[in-house]
Amino acid sequence: MERTLILLKPDAVQRALVGEIVARFESKGLKIVGLKMLHVDEALARRHYAPHVEKPFFGSLLRFITSSPLVALALEGTNAIARVRAIVGATSPDDAAPGTVRGDLSADLTLNLIHASDAPETARAELSLFFADGELMDYRRCDEAWLGLAD
Ligand code: PPS
Repeated sequence: MERTLILLKPDAVQRALVGEIVARFESKGLKIVGLKMLHVDEALARRHYAPHVEKPFFGSLLRFITSSPLVALALEGTNAIARVRAIVGATSPDDAAPGTVRGDLSADLTLNLIHASDAPETARAELSLFFADGELMDYRRCDEAWLGLAD
């Protein structure tokens, strides 16, 4: 079992694509263990994108992610990190295959709808930036008699 962080970026919210994108993850069996809407401030954006601070596009990444509210999503499942990234598709709209979120719905390298963690260590670090201890659900603590409803 893995957990991973997904950001449905400002363009996904503005284009009213949140429901459609979340449905793709749920349909694949990934379980929502955290969900919140927030307007990311510059400090959080700088921490989240710290690995890219030297990239020429760092400034536009910051401006875009802080421009308006986004939805942060924590998903859990077997091989969740790789499965989510397969559903999301390649970063560039030229490479994103049809059937992926970006391949179907995005035509821009910056306004590319989604961020998804790329490895277990980054997933842990990114989840802790967006969700406090105790905010993520643990289905093992649920009443077993009702757990079937969450599958
Ligand atoms: S890299 O260079 O391979 O590390 O970059 P990559 O992991 O593909 O992308 C890191 C994030 O930067 C975004 N990105 C860009 N934004 C603006 N302009 C350009 N040219 C560009 N190239 C990459 C990309 O969408 C990644 O954002 P997140 O939010 O992590 O998806």
